[in-house]
Formats: sequence, structure tokens, C-alpha cells
Amino acid sequence: MLFDLKPKTRREDLYDRENELSEFQNAVNLGERLILLLGIRRLGKSSLLNVALAESGMPYAKIDVRSLYFTHGSIPQEILARKILDSLLSTVSGRKSLRLRLEKVLGSIRGVRISGLSVEFDRKPDLAEILEKISSWAENENLRAIIAFDEAQYLRLSGIRYDGLIAYAVDNLPGITFVLTGSEVGMLHDFLGLENPKKPLFGRYAREIVLQRFRLEESVDFLTRGFEEVGIKPSEEEIKGAVEKLDGIVGWLTMYGYLRGIRKLSHANAIDELFNMAEKLIREELSSILQNSRRYGAILKAVAMGNVRWSTIKEYVEFKMGQVNDAKFSLLLNNLVKYGYLEKRGNEYTIPDPVVKEVVKGL
Ligand SMILES: Nc1ncnc2c1ncn2[C@@H]1O[C@H](COP(=O)(O)OP(=O)(O)OP(=O)(O)O)[C@@H](O)[C@H]1O
Ligand SMILES: [Mg+2]
Repeated sequence: MLFDLKPKTRREDLYDRENELSEFQNAVNLGERLILLLGIRRLGKSSLLNVALAESGMPYAKIDVRSLYFTHGSIPQEILARKILDSLLSTVSGRKSLRLRLEKVLGSIRGVRISGLSVEFDRKPDLAEILEKISSWAENENLRAIIAFDEAQYLRLSGIRYDGLIAYAVDNLPGITFVLTGSEVGMLHDFLGLENPKKPLFGRYAREIVLQRFRLEESVDFLTRGFEEVGIKPSEEEIKGAVEKLDGIVGWLTMYGYLRGIRKLSHANAIDELFNMAEKLIREELSSILQNSRRYGAILKAVAMGNVRWSTIKEYVEFKMGQVNDAKFSLLLNNLVKYGYLEKRGNEYTIPDPVVKEVVKGL
């Protein structure tokens, strides 16, 4: 069902994304080692990832790095290793002999025990060694093991050099493909440093799949089809009205469809309720960056109110919060671009998500 709020897992519930799916499959078939799935929040990265992994025909492990980070406050190797192994074992659970051979390979690592469906460590696991074993197993099976880190930019906050580990694997482990998704696109690029000579992944090739918002006709078609599925037929004006407010951001369109089509609210109430829910979500999402500097809030508000240039944004921020030096201000502004809250085109800054734009006006 198109209006299910959870990230999609089945192709029949995923609207379009045909090109992205085939590009993903193509990269896997070519044996590429590093795939990036990028896009601002709520464009459907996790959904695309789920479906692409399920359709790849390959064994895979998928780790939600953002939720690991928020659960543990960091990402210890042991927990990451356990998640990778649990997830990988469960995706091969239906292929008995394949799974047995994987268990055997993993069991040969000192300190690793497989008991039933879960993995135990008798001592601190060595993630590099685990990846080596997974790679050689996959090669022997004539498969690739895909290891996907959803919202991978959080790996940078762990205090462990996961960029170095990924670089090692990309260079030396031909049986593994890494997939990294990121909504904080600039932060993910910084973490990987593919173009930064000081970083371990410098100069490596990555396949970048960048998710775009739906075009106007696609958004209208998405809503129309979703409403057909649940057997209601809102007017064209309502659908156009919703798309005007939500643009082609599939997460908001899905939420509107859910409120209007499944909760059966009127158009006006569905829009009101969507903005209520969105406000809570967005405030929560912003809270961690606002903790670092309250000026982030003032910058976003300045842009939401129509200031697009460095100088006018700075003027507004100083009017609200007192003086800030140029370098510090530029740093904050650039960070917001890296987090995906702002977009920079030429010399102009904008907020790419119209719902975020409305919400930050009230900050
Ligand atoms: N192609 C699609 N067809 C139908 N629904 C979709 C599609 N892509 C995403 N959705 C829906 O949109 C919402 C957001 O999707 P998803 O969580 O996959 O996006 P995301 O980019 O990973 O978001 P976030 O940045 O918050 O992690 C979910 O309700 C999901 O079901
Ligand atoms: Mg996601």
C-alpha cells in the first residue's frame, strides 16, 4: 500500500524509483564496492534501500546506524559486528546449505560462537577479520555480500575510525559491496572524504545514486493511485492543493495520503494534522543541532522569512542574537548545508523542504 507510513520493503508498495533500482542492481552486478544513496530527509532512501537489497538476490546485512547511535550514544564495534552478523545470517536463513557454510566460516573466527539465530562473542570481536571471512565466503559462493549502513554519517560520531575500516574493505575485500545512505549528504561526504587527500577513502570510486523529489505530475499520480488503493476519490483541487504545500517529498505525500485516505480526515484537517505532526518531528530532529548552537535556529528562520544572501541572513541573525564574526557565521551556515537543512545555489540559500520552511518560521 502506497500510504503505509513505514519505510517500504516490497517493490509493489514502492512508487516508481525504477531508474534508481536498476542503477543499484547494475552496480552490484558489476561488482562495484561502494554505493552511496543520497538525498534530503523523507525522499525515500530507506525504502529504496530495502527494496533494492531484497531484489538484489544477494545475501546482505542492513544496519540502521542512526538508531544505533541514538540508542547507544556511540557505535561500539562489538554492537556493529553483532548487527552485521545477525542481519546477514537472517537474510540467508532460507538457504540452508549457504547458511551452514557461512556459520562454519564465522565459527572459525576466534571468540565467535553462533548459537541458533544469534551470535555470541567470547571476546571483543575484530570487525576487520569478520569482514574478511564474509568476503571470502561470498567469493567462494560466487555471490557478493552487501553491507548497508543506513544514515552512515552517524558512523563519524563513534570515535572509531570506521572510514579506515571501510577503506580497507573496499581495497582488499572483493566479495563485499558497501551501501551507505545519508540524508546529511555533506556530512557523509566529509566522513568519507573521497576527495580529501587526508582521508583513507581518498580517490576511491563510489557509485552515487541521488534521490530527487517527485515531479509535479508524479506527485499528483502518486496521490491519485494511493487514493484508488484505499477506495476514495478526492477532487483534483484537493490533490493539487496538497502537492502545492508538500512539493514532491514522498514522505509528506505519504503522510497526507494516510491522514486523508486511511484516517479519512477532510482535506483541510489532514493538512492541519500533517503540519502538527511535522512540527513535532522537525523540532525533535533539529533539537540536537540547536543544542550545539542556538544560532542555527535563527539562521533557518532568517532563510524561511525570505533572506537568501549571506549578508542579509547574517544581519537578521545579529539583530536577533547579537554579533557573530564572519568565519563563525559562515561555518554555521555551511554546516546547515551539510546537514541538508539548507541548499545553496549560486549565492542564494533556500530551505529545500516546504514543510520544514513553515515549521522553522515558528521557531
Ligand atoms: N517510492 C515510494 N513509494 C511509496 N512510498 C514511499 C516511497 N518512498 C518513500 N515512501 C514513504 O515515504 C516515507 C519516508 O520514506 P523513507 O523512510 O524510506 O525515507 P528516508 O529518505 O529514508 O527518510 P529519512 O531521511 O527520514 O530516513 C515513508 O512513509 C515511506 O513509506
Ligand atoms: Mg531513512
